[in-house]
Formats: sequence, C-alpha cells, structure tokens
Amino acid sequence: MEIVHISAECYPVAKAGGLGDVVGALPKYQCKAGHIAKVVMPMYRTKFLYNNEWVVDFKGSAHLGDWLFEYTIIREKTNSLGFDLYLVDINGLLDREKIYGYDDDTERFTAFQIAVVSWMASWEHRPDIVHCHDHQSGLVPFMMKHCFNYRHLSRVSTVFTIHNGQYQGWMDWSQSKLIPAWDDWKTGLLEWAGRINPMASAIKCADRVTTVSQSYMEELFYDANGLESLFDYERGKCVGILNGIDNEIWNPATDTYLDNHFSVKTVTKGKKANKALLCEKYGLDKEKPLFVFIGRLVGEKAAEILPGSIARAIHESGGAASFLILGSGQTDIEWALQQMTGQYPGLYNAYIGYNEALSHLIYAGADFLLMPSRVEPCGLNQMYAMRYGTVPVVRSTGGLKDTVVDMGDPDGYGIRFNHATESDLVYSISRGVSVYQDSAHMEKMRKFMMQVDNSWEATVQKYISVYQGIL
Ligand code: ADP
Ligand code: GLC
Repeated sequence: MEIVHISAECYPVAKAGGLGDVVGALPKYQCKAGHIAKVVMPMYRTKFLYNNEWVVDFKGSAHLGDWLFEYTIIREKTNSLGFDLYLVDINGLLDREKIYGYDDDTERFTAFQIAVVSWMASWEHRPDIVHCHDHQSGLVPFMMKHCFNYRHLSRVSTVFTIHNGQYQGWMDWSQSKLIPAWDDWKTGLLEWAGRINPMASAIKCADRVTTVSQSYMEELFYDANGLESLFDYERGKCVGILNGIDNEIWNPATDTYLDNHFSVKTVTKGKKANKALLCEKYGLDKEKPLFVFIGRLVGEKAAEILPGSIARAIHESGGAASFLILGSGQTDIEWALQQMTGQYPGLYNAYIGYNEALSHLIYAGADFLLMPSRVEPCGLNQMYAMRYGTVPVVRSTGGLKDTVVDMGDPDGYGIRFNHATESDLVYSISRGVSVYQDSAHMEKMRKFMMQVDNSWEATVQKYISVYQGIL
C-alpha cells in the first residue's frame, strides 16, 4: 500500500509537540511492515534542512487567491528517517524558523495544502491513501474531492487523524477566495457554525476519521470545542487508535542524549546517576523525590495550576519533594513559573523554553512526571516517562486514562486523579512522596512500567486495517 502523510510537523525535521513525534514514527513503522509510507510537510528553516542533502523532485505553480505562487518539492536524499520525506518550499511563506505563530498562518498552510494537492495531481499514478493530520491539512480531503482542478484525485481514499480537536483552523468567509474554485453545491462541506472550519471539513469529507486514543474519541462526542454534533453525525467513520512511541529513539539503554544508560535490570542505579546529574545542573536536592513537568504551558495542559500546586506541596510537605519544569507557552504562566525560581532553593527550578536534549535527561532522572491535563487526546510524555521508569501522575482523561493504571489497582504503576485542580494535584503529589519512601515498591513499579508495550509495532496494524476497510 502507498500512503502519503501530510502534516505540519515531523520529528526530527520540525516538532512543536506530539504531532511531530507521531508523524516521525508511524510512517517508519508502516514501511517496516512492508508498505510505502511517505511524509510531505512544509520546508521550514530548521537544522535538519541544513544538515541533510536534498534533491528537487518537482517544481510547480498554483494560485492562492489572486496570487500565483511557485513551489518546489524537495526530497531527502538518503531515506535517513526510514521513509521518503518531501518538503514543500514556498518562498517567503513557509521557509521561516518557527512552525506556527505567524499572522499569516492561514495563508501559509492553505498554500501548503494547495501545493501538495497540485503536486499529487501531477503524478502518473495515484497513491492508495492520503492521510492528513490535524487542521493544517484539513482542507485536503475537500480539495481532492470537490475542487475542479484536482477532480482526478477524487477517488483516492483519505484518512484524517485528529491529534488535537481544540484547534480547528477557523477561517472567515472573506478568506474563501484562498481555496481553489470548487463545486458550489459542496460549500456546506467547508462550513461549521458560520465559518470555514478545516477540521470540520476534514471530518465531513475524509473516508475515515481517527483520533489518538479510544477515550478521547468517546470524549469528542460530548466535548469537542463546538463539533460534538458533527462527531455524533459522523460516528460511523470515527475510530480511536492509541498512539505508540518510537522505542528506537526512546530507549534508556541507547538514548543518544544520555550519558548514563540503563535497562530494566539496572533501573535503580541508572536513574540515580541521571538524577544526580540533573539535580546538580539545576541546583536541586537529589535526596528528595523529584517531580517534573514537561510540556506546553497552556490551559489544555492545566499548566496554570502548577505554580500554586508546587508552592502548596512544598509548604504542606515541609519541603519533602523537589520540582523541575521544562516548558514554554503562555507568557503569564511562563512568568509565574520563572519568578518562583530562587524562592525555594534546592527544591524548585524551571527551564522556560524548548529543549529536546534536556527533556530526555529529565525523563531519565525524574521520579514522578506531572500531567494534570484538562484535555489530552493521547499524551506521549506519560509513555516516555514509563519507558524511563518515571512514575506518571496524571488526570484521568483521554489517552492518560488509557495508558496509566493507578498504583492502588492490581499491577498499577502510576497515580491518577480526577480534577485539574490544585487540591487534586497536591494530594497526588503527597501520594508520590509517601510511596517514594518505600524503595522496594518504587523499584517494582519502575520495572513493571518499563516493560509495558506501547510500541508502534503493536499499533501500526490498526491503521492498516482502517485503510483496508476503505479500499
Ligand atoms: P502535545 O503534543 O499536546 O504537546 P504530547 O504529550 O503528545 O503533547 O507530546 C509532547 C512532546 O513534546 C513530547 O515529546 C515532549 O517531550 C515534547 N515537549 C513538550 N514541551 C517540550 C519542551 N519545552 N522541551 C522539549 N520537549 C518538549
Ligand atoms: C496532540 C495532543 C497529544 C497527542 C499528540 C500526538 O498534540 O495534544 O495528546 O499525544 O497530539 O498525537
């Protein structure tokens, strides 16, 4: 089967969060399973672009409204990621340092999608599946089926995966001129609640809709940022498939970001060495249980409850635990976390920013990982934490519910709570502090969770079955 993935992110080319990890791994494991999977993404100015060799695969032009733009498709020469990687270069529009966050993101990603569809329309053959990820490629199924220029792609099957239903790519009707001419009768397929909604359009137009865990799929029927009734209507084509993790990259025995490697057998010693290094770097007391947070500092992750919860946990426990934050996002949350550094010497520190290498050391050196998320479609952090013997402390929602078993249950290895509130989080931290005193229990949980199979190998077949169901 030939599968073309279209995405705004793909690790290690460009990553802002879990979408990058998934699109960097799923195609690789699809190729390993004997299929031909490819990834097409925008050409940003990233390290990966400059450190690799590229060949020009195609040059074309297309219209974005009245503007005739030229685009170039380049392909990475050596297949170093385990699949064919194509970048779309649109001069001045995509070749920037950041992935998102520009005023003209709508124009950027619309032009990206137009270029990808125009390019695919020029192929002599048709791929079996076009697999779109999140709203930045949400207009593709509509364009392939209903835009006059691309009609001969209309019979190619499309799959749309929702990694995050909160962001839908809304556009005003005044921006409709950006989309290539379409069959007027089909206008309703672009619309939701009076606006153009690329995510809603993909849900309506794709042959199958997947999301990244079973529990999140169920949540979307009653909590989907306005799309609940659409999910209900399209229920028949929706399926939840839990993400995997790339065990080749996320392996504490071989992780290239770590100096101190460890396996299930050597987990206690290995984590101790990584923790010592981490605590030394960030001025933390290595004798205390270390609670960490890694992620986007936004409401979805309930990041704004971190400063208050940490302060309370430190006071209420008499300084029995230490904390380290790695994250970036909303400036008010960044500020609150930053200004606490220095207030609790030896017990608290924060790195505000994005740092891939540090994230690996933190997973390896921490004792507990905090994820109070309000919304968590899947969550990869808790699975990485488990692989590195770090106890996940999570709110029972979405993928967190599907991957973490509370230590009070048989074979449990994590801590779960129900509300994204300071009280629930502080109480869960106190449960962590208590269990940390019992080193035999900690070791047993660590060894158990490290062996839970969250690999892509185990998951990839579920996507293949979805594709086969359409073909
Ligand atoms: P989301 O995609 O919603 O941000 P996930 O849990 O699926 O959440 O994935 C987050 C990914 O991004 C993980 O690989 C995590 O380690 C990484 N990450 C998040 N924030 C940072 C940061 N500040 N520095 C390094 N890695 C980060
Ligand atoms: C999204 C979600 C996250 C998920 C990731 C990869 O960013 O917020 O929960 O793990 O996509 O699917």
